[in-house]
Amino acid sequence: GVRIDRMVWGESNFRRSMPVRKMDSHKGDHGKGLIVGGNTVMPGSIAMSVKAALRTGAGLVTAGTTETVIPAVAAHCPEATYLLLGEKEIKPDANRTVSFDGFDATAVGMGMGRHDNAGKLVSRLVEDTLGPLIVDADGLHHLKPIISKVKERQHPTILTPHPGEMAMLLDTTVPELLAQPFSFSKEFAAEHQVYIVLKGQFTIITAPDGRQAVNITGNPGLAKGGSGDVLSGMILAMVMQKLSMFEALSNACFVHGKSADLLVAETHSEYDLLASDVIEGIAKVYRTFL
Ligand code: APR
Ligand code: MG
Repeated sequence: GVRIDRMVWGESNFRRSMPVRKMDSHKGDHGKGLIVGGNTVMPGSIAMSVKAALRTGAGLVTAGTTETVIPAVAAHCPEATYLLLGEKEIKPDANRTVSFDGFDATAVGMGMGRHDNAGKLVSRLVEDTLGPLIVDADGLHHLKPIISKVKERQHPTILTPHPGEMAMLLDTTVPELLAQPFSFSKEFAAEHQVYIVLKGQFTIITAPDGRQAVNITGNPGLAKGGSGDVLSGMILAMVMQKLSMFEALSNACFVHGKSADLLVAETHSEYDLLASDVIEGIAKVYRTFL
């Protein structure tokens, strides 16, 4: 048949790809995810990622974070468990004995800050983690100097930059990138053997083999701090469901934007919508389309 290399990912793709949950399933079937991030001055971003991952359908979510951040996560999400990393800032030297094994997928970067210690942790995750690794936000800054190591991973790596972060990775400007977002994404994905979710009004999902999908759900209500953190948690959960990586990434973007669209149509507006509302809106999307 004809291979379609670039497509809009819509409702029917979402409906058709989402697996039915087995009647006798247990939490292990729905994935054990690790989210590494957060620091004293940014406790909210990892809290949102964790909650979004659970609402999207992860079986178990562990927050790898500092002691000061744990109460923020726990306040929003009693279902979370923890892997303690340092005190106020993430300190990998003190975490040499911490094991990152035993997770089906890992996400790193949200609210972790740009401190060198956080960078060492990203580097360790790139080398040691088994299973898909999602890198977002500050994690992308730490990834840039070690990007050549990513190809050596035996598991998929997914980068979720906004245009500013993508331009940073490419050593170009945002206007240059946005003039040709498809070709920049495709070249970068092929060169480093990564999946890329280039976020924006329209989000472009690119596989290492060059396949691309465009997500067209979402609205300006999402143009607020925290929306990206919600998406990274949703991606973590979606990659642990029984889907191809390409389907999982596209579905996460679809649900994220659709949640915002349903909320703005029914109970909210583009002005008042918050990232935490988008987490609650996941229920509406699932109940409407599944
Ligand atoms: N229309 C549709 N979708 C939108 C729109 C829009 N006008 N604006 C934003 N979005 C969506 C994007 O597609 C993406 O999924 O909202 C999300 C925004 O993600 P980010 O840009 O990562 O935003 P943010 O949550 O603020 O990131 C948190 O990480 O990227 C760093 O510096 C950033 O510290 C910040 C943190
Ligand atoms: Mg972001």
